[in-house]
Amino acid sequence: MILRACNETDVKTLTKLEKECFPTPWNENMLLSAFSRIDFVCFVLEEAGKALGYVCGTTLFETAELARIAVAGSWRRKGLGEKLLDAFISCVQERGAQQVFLEVRVSNAPAIALYEKRGFEKGRVRAKYYENGENGLEMKKLL
Ligand code: COA
Repeated sequence: MILRACNETDVKTLTKLEKECFPTPWNENMLLSAFSRIDFVCFVLEEAGKALGYVCGTTLFETAELARIAVAGSWRRKGLGEKLLDAFISCVQERGAQQVFLEVRVSNAPAIALYEKRGFEKGRVRAKYYENGENGLEMKKLL
């Protein structure tokens, strides 16, 4: 299994993972627009050329924001999410980030458990943050 940084040529692969893993997936244009940002960070985990999971976000000065983390269904609960999260954190830390923020659906127990395991703390609940009216939970980790 290899972990590597992604670029624009990966958008088709990442779009597939997005469709499989999120109720409101990012499309190719959204990913391309993300890759055009200089502060965008993205890693994929692959085996035999197949993408098993990915993570992405932005980092500017002392603050990083994790935007997406996803692992293909049959590969979950094998530590890949943690690997991806650790890769993102190490990279943004090298770039000078001192804190990482994210928002997660309050119902997303697997993701919240993953973030807590890696030292994120729960913050404010943002009412109706998501398109279906679901509340969002802010989480933060100091580096
Ligand atoms: N129930 C409870 N805890 C869970 C869990 C679950 N279903 N899945 C992960 N965790 C927690 C556990 O603490 C776990 O540690 P443990 O295995 O020692 O108990 C820890 O997270 C690490 O799990 P890991 O195997 O690395 O996670 P994963 O590879 O299964 O990936 C997600 C976790 C969240 C990325 C994956 O479930 C996913 O892709 N979900 C859909 C996309 C999504 O919701 N992304 C987050 C919002 S942006």
